[in-house]
Amino acid sequence: MDNLQRENWTSRLGFILAAAGSAVGLGNIWRFPYVAGTNGGAAFLVLYLIAIVLIGYPVMVTEMTIGRKTQKNPVGAFKSLAPDAPWWLVGALGVFTGFVILSFYSVVGGWSMAYVVKAANGFIAGTDFGEVFVGHISGVGEPLLWHATFMFLTITIIGSGVVKGIQKAVEVLMPILFVLLLILVFRAITLPGAGEGLAFYLTPDFSQITGQTFLEAIGQSFFTLSLGMGAIITYGSYLSDDDNINDNAAYVAGFDTLIAILAGFAIFPAVFALGFSPDAGPGLVFTILPAVFAEMPLGTIFGFLFFLLLTISAITSAISLLEVVVAYVVDEHQWNRKKAAWLAGIIIFIVGIPPLLGYSTLAEVNFLGMDILDTYDWISGNIFLPLGGLLTAVFAGYAWGARETVEEANKVKGAISVGAIYSFLIKYLVPIAIFIVLVTGVWETIAG
Ligand code: PHE
Repeated sequence: MDNLQRENWTSRLGFILAAAGSAVGLGNIWRFPYVAGTNGGAAFLVLYLIAIVLIGYPVMVTEMTIGRKTQKNPVGAFKSLAPDAPWWLVGALGVFTGFVILSFYSVVGGWSMAYVVKAANGFIAGTDFGEVFVGHISGVGEPLLWHATFMFLTITIIGSGVVKGIQKAVEVLMPILFVLLLILVFRAITLPGAGEGLAFYLTPDFSQITGQTFLEAIGQSFFTLSLGMGAIITYGSYLSDDDNINDNAAYVAGFDTLIAILAGFAIFPAVFALGFSPDAGPGLVFTILPAVFAEMPLGTIFGFLFFLLLTISAITSAISLLEVVVAYVVDEHQWNRKKAAWLAGIIIFIVGIPPLLGYSTLAEVNFLGMDILDTYDWISGNIFLPLGGLLTAVFAGYAWGARETVEEANKVKGAISVGAIYSFLIKYLVPIAIFIVLVTGVWETIAG
């Protein structure tokens, strides 16, 4: 019965934009540049590209295939492919991960919105922007208001449906995002002294590569492609039987990579041109970039556009996180979509309050030396996503079977057809590589 009412994307582009919107997010514009900046620039870029092709792409094909085949949310999808085994727990882990990621993602999305306003008022040269940032996040009322606003927007879009909500939003927002990014790249590379940043970004120094760099590259490829928690299964479930998978997955992964690379072109030349250092870590976009915009000709406009870009990218990812949760209750428990979006959204808002207060009221609370937001981020990004991806690969490779998965993925012919290489990657390379990342990551954090 519920399948009769299930929506489908109304165009191929609509689906690609939605999946690319999920993929392109804080991970590309906030996280990628600082991780690349602290891991040797171009050398990191090379490893990251390899990880996208060998690990990210096969997992993305797998998730889309599971979604299109079953036409269900992650829990229902695993249930229908493996009715007699508890594989649905992988789907349940995904729904739970969506909850956790969105709760802190919305807090950071809120900071980004606050910075749209700050940027519009102009960043004044000579200000200590580190202090400004700490001042903002250690407030209570203001970050709370932005967190609520961010969740409100996300809930409103999801409550409006797959086509009228998600597809319509990404069809408007994604082209804006792309144009904004091109404008910012143009501004950055035409600044006098931009060459040094370009050199840092484009000349690989392989002596910078350590075991840790590999792990970072694999971890980043997962988070940035929205893999391992059922978002792509869910979006894939709104594809219909005559929609292609392998080419669509290549477009999505390719577009996401392009955006990450362009974000580097928008940031590094500007950072170097104005005499800053690229290895500032997580504070890069909130503490270094305002200083860069303060000094740059027409910096107020470009600063405003940058934080607008960051906010848009966050919203198009946040909706895919909420959609996983909502699709689950709508499919499995026959809830009304609006009601599901509001209830799930409000709970997620509340779960996001502790990480938000982790810089003020709850500053004392620490886990392995991490504040609450970093803890949410670490558990979801470094444990749940890799674990979900690992189990999804094992499911496709062994339980459902690589042969079935390949057949289903290739059902609608396009330019790419997957085969022996895909089977090898999904059965061996992907699980082993993720396992190593998972174990090493946990070990280093606990030991360190
Ligand atoms: N891909 C998003 C980003 O890069 C984050 C995300 C992860 C979104 C998992 C959905 C699911 O910011």
